[in-house]
Amino acid sequence: MTHMKKYLIGNWKSHKNASQAEAWVLEFDQALVGVVDPEQTVVAVCPPYPLLGSVQAAIGQASPRVANSLKIGIQDLSPFPLGKYTGEVAVGNMKGFDIEYAILGHSERRRYFQEDHHSVAQKVDQALQAGIVPIVCVDDEYAQAQAQALPPDQAAQCVVAYEPVEAIGSGHNQPVHEVKPIVQLIKAEYGEVPVLYGGSVDVSNVAEYLSITNGVLVGGASLKADEFVGLVQAANIS
Ligand code: PGA
Repeated sequence: MTHMKKYLIGNWKSHKNASQAEAWVLEFDQALVGVVDPEQTVVAVCPPYPLLGSVQAAIGQASPRVANSLKIGIQDLSPFPLGKYTGEVAVGNMKGFDIEYAILGHSERRRYFQEDHHSVAQKVDQALQAGIVPIVCVDDEYAQAQAQALPPDQAAQCVVAYEPVEAIGSGHNQPVHEVKPIVQLIKAEYGEVPVLYGGSVDVSNVAEYLSITNGVLVGGASLKADEFVGLVQAANIS
């Protein structure tokens, strides 16, 4: 597991406006110490769709070390291609943006927007067709069902984020000894994919999770650039 890259994915959810997004990239650049080796550590930030342009432009204007290592992801994706789907954002709509990752099937989307395993599978297909790496979010009780909804060759191309619902945004991160067996269970279902942990990750606990997973998906602690940099520094040295 240790030879795999470490993933540090920031999920802004429905937070921030364009000027706050630009300020975040600037602060990230100022706070980062040293260089992130993209071969070792994937660092990505996932803003709301309307902020993609601002974030991409700000990264383009940042120092080369940030411009080379800070990647962009999205938080959702239409299950359909371009077409008559009012309100949806298809991969084709985002042509021109350097999007490398897509968080798919987050529990907030399953809970508030009735996403199911089938629609998540359609989104995975859309992402992969566009060369975007899906980060599929699961809780332990449906990790298997979600895997079974995916063609095995597609499941093997995903990053899987284990996010116990009660740990998200609660300050109650799941103890590492409880996370460990679920990481193994997910690898058994999906293949040797990178498995991340998400749920109240912060600077005080990130190192523990990085020692038993391939990275972390971070909500609250990604909103302040200096805090997120603290996580990046931990990932880059562990
Ligand atoms: P949190 O969110 O870090 O605020 O718990 C994680 C997530 O929902 O991805």
